[in-house]
Amino acid sequence: MAFKLILTAAVLTLLTQDCVSHLEDVEGDNEGASSGRCGLGGPASLVMRSISLSQVPITIVVKNSILNEEEKTYKTFVADRGILIGAMTRLAMTDNSFKFTYIVDLNYGPFLESVNGVAGNPKDHTYWELLVKKPGGSPQKTNVGIGCYIPSAKDQIIFNFTTWGGSEGCG
Ligand SMILES: *[C@@H]1O[C@H](CO)[C@@H](O)[C@H](O)[C@H]1NC(C)=O
Repeated sequence: MAFKLILTAAVLTLLTQDCVSHLEDVEGDNEGASSGRCGLGGPASLVMRSISLSQVPITIVVKNSILNEEEKTYKTFVADRGILIGAMTRLAMTDNSFKFTYIVDLNYGPFLESVNGVAGNPKDHTYWELLVKKPGGSPQKTNVGIGCYIPSAKDQIIFNFTTWGGSEGCG
């Protein structure tokens, strides 16, 4: 009995360390603000576990017409009822041609900062827009971010480097 308990604790510690070190790699210079909403809100939520092994296939497309970069498509999956940032984190761990960083906003949760080394820049009014294209549909904006969006099977997730504002902006 006592032996079994010790063993379990050791395994949990190992798993936890493993997840934390991977996450630090992926997060890059994330300052780790507290709380946030939905997934991966910061250090308080870093103890990860994965219960569901059922995989929902999705495609992630990285588009950057502003810098004239070739479109990149990644076939991957999200856990059943899992959040998008989980699938992105797993993809970044297993495919080194995909990487991203995000900032944790206290109120709005994880906000995508850079994809494949390109970051949005307030001076240029550029940012990474999250769009979702359902089979047969056209790309739509989501009303939640990467930490909250729960993809469905065959969703095409588009990270589109684009600009905000325009002539109607407040200057
Ligand atoms: C992506 O961003 C580009 C550049 O701003 C824009 O022209 C295009 O309409 C956006 N949407 C898609 C789905 O590519």
